[in-house]
Amino acid sequence: MSSQPKLHVLFNRQEIEATVSRLAAEISQDYHDRHPLLIGVLKGSFMLMADLIRHLDFPLEVDFIGLSSYGKDRQTSGKVKVVHELSTPIKGREVLVIDDIVDTGLTVSFLLDYLRKKKPASLKLCALTDKPSRRRVPVTIDYLGFTVPNKFIVGYGLDWDEKFRNLPDICFLEGED
Ligand code: PRP
Repeated sequence: MSSQPKLHVLFNRQEIEATVSRLAAEISQDYHDRHPLLIGVLKGSFMLMADLIRHLDFPLEVDFIGLSSYGKDRQTSGKVKVVHELSTPIKGREVLVIDDIVDTGLTVSFLLDYLRKKKPASLKLCALTDKPSRRRVPVTIDYLGFTVPNKFIVGYGLDWDEKFRNLPDICFLEGED
């Protein structure tokens, strides 16, 4: 087993909290009277979802979808799979996807196409982080938390080989660009 990589804080928990509050204010303004369905992309979005919806003081529903393309690797395989299905019909619903990171864009682009075929009334994307330097397909992020440099980031739901999701800060791994 390889040794643990060194971590550096990129955004601390106070910065994350301020950003989640700001995202919640933007989302509240647009969705307060629309009874939206928030769909979290597993696993990485679970922490953002939990914190975000505590700021949303209006009727909404929550569901999750499990997608995987990275597996145990740090490079995307490019092939996205649904590994955990939605439990809510989305036809005619106001759908807001909640994701932790848009990197190459392949995962969320697959997801938005997949959801669009189910004919929601509207479909938008909230992403905690965006790494535009790695984009392979164009993605419109309607509600964005942070733009991040081309470094491997972990924490606040994001993993490295399934580790570090529990960190309260967003960190990057030294030497793992
Ligand atoms: C990660 C992350 C995003 C996606 C972004 O998911 O949570 O959903 O990759 O990468 P992309 O823009 O290059 O497609 P991963 O497949 O690692 O699963 P996880 O959320 O369970 O960690």
